[in-house]
Amino acid sequence: MAEELELRSAWEAAGQGQVFDFWNDLSSEQRATLIQQCGDVNLAALQETWASGPQLATIDCREATRLEAERFSPLEPSDKSSIWRKEGEQAIADGRVGVVIVAGGQGTRLGFDKPKGLYPVGPLSNRTLFECILDRVEERARRLVAQPLVVLVMTSDATHDETVEYFQQQEGHWPNLDLRPFRQGTMPALAADSGRVLLESRGRVALSPDGHGGLVAALRRTGELERLSERGVETLFYCQIDNPLVDALCPELIGAHLSARSEMTTLVVRKNDPAERVGNVAMFGSRMAIVEYSDIDQENARRLDEQGELVFWAGNTGVHLFSLEFIASAAKESGTLPFHWARKKVGTIDAAGDPVEPSEPNAIKLERFIFDLMPHAARTLAIEVRAADYFAPVKNAEGAASDTRATCQAAMLEQGRQWLEAAGASVAARARVELAPSFGLDPVDLKSKPDLSERAFEGDQFLT
Ligand code: UD1
Repeated sequence: MAEELELRSAWEAAGQGQVFDFWNDLSSEQRATLIQQCGDVNLAALQETWASGPQLATIDCREATRLEAERFSPLEPSDKSSIWRKEGEQAIADGRVGVVIVAGGQGTRLGFDKPKGLYPVGPLSNRTLFECILDRVEERARRLVAQPLVVLVMTSDATHDETVEYFQQQEGHWPNLDLRPFRQGTMPALAADSGRVLLESRGRVALSPDGHGGLVAALRRTGELERLSERGVETLFYCQIDNPLVDALCPELIGAHLSARSEMTTLVVRKNDPAERVGNVAMFGSRMAIVEYSDIDQENARRLDEQGELVFWAGNTGVHLFSLEFIASAAKESGTLPFHWARKKVGTIDAAGDPVEPSEPNAIKLERFIFDLMPHAARTLAIEVRAADYFAPVKNAEGAASDTRATCQAAMLEQGRQWLEAAGASVAARARVELAPSFGLDPVDLKSKPDLSERAFEGDQFLT
């Protein structure tokens, strides 16, 4: 009771007392929910964000210079990549590497009313996004580790229960993985004109996920950060659930990250078009940073440097490697990551407590982005990869021009063909071949398979 009063007076003192306007109409259960929701909000951070405004809009893209990146393609192994591979495999085998997948998003944009990870994408196998990513991690873990490898899966309120249920149904499917789903945090939506926290109903604050940057706080809050460190994990391989082409335990990338003693490594692809809807990785002085596509104007996006080269050539794939120490130091400071402001339509209630569905954006949603950690890293590394090797996200519903299930499946099939051909096999022009990781993990692995070079693939096959 004393805590409840304290909380209410803190919210009132902050000018946010309106969230209790309907207190007298609420049942004791509803009151408890409201108190819990308010208790979870970092009120000081919220007030500070509102007072300081959308600081990120002030990034000056004119100060950016071109990113220098290492290059890597699994189809073109080199002496350097062999050294990386050895170092990466050793780190995995020693239990020094963990994986984290951000999977807070739902499939709404795809016309799929479940967590995005459950969306089927395997061109012939119909495997889900989760399966495509995890099968590969499982196969690498099976070959290399003695103890199950930690795979953290960050969910949101919207995706948590169904994700947990899905993993339970898949019991036994990934025996070498220690799959650990945990929930990201939330942030209240603010009225765009006043900064006041909006109620979704009389007894509930309008909350939404706090962005993938919420990972840092969630790792600390759930104790996962401590557990990783106790288990000796030193490197976290981070990826997004929407990209089934990612090799989330790629030894070469891990080795490159470790060789460079990088605190944060990022995978980039060369943009096809300056206006492409990907984050832009560039240098700002000695620091690496990402400018989101929504924060860059056309003039800057097309800017050339003195050598006539595009400054913002590098697109963010959403694949990063972190040193755990770096994440842990960021987690100690709650203000390391700024909030990005997005104007959105958020259903709320009016002064009488009746529902209001706005026709125009009425609210600010606040999200943290994981890549805003980058400028905090003293040592960074960028690795340029071919999209064909690592990046085919599913973002849009069927029929859109890019980033659909169809474009992703075409990329998966093309990868299968290129890898088999690189190993000396022949694949008929009309054949469609999907590779399961158990058949081959990458071109280096496929080359070591006996007799593959004499095989010819004619029809459609899911190779397992
Ligand atoms: C994102 C990147 C963009 C990059 C592109 C590559 C951001 C802001 N932008 O764009 O720079 O070029 O991917 O594909 O990330 N997620 C959560 N919780 C949240 C929000 C997102 O888990 O609160 C997860 C989603 O499930 C998704 C991923 O983060 O897997 C990316 O988020 P999304 O909002 O889809 O970003 P994009 O606009 O696709």
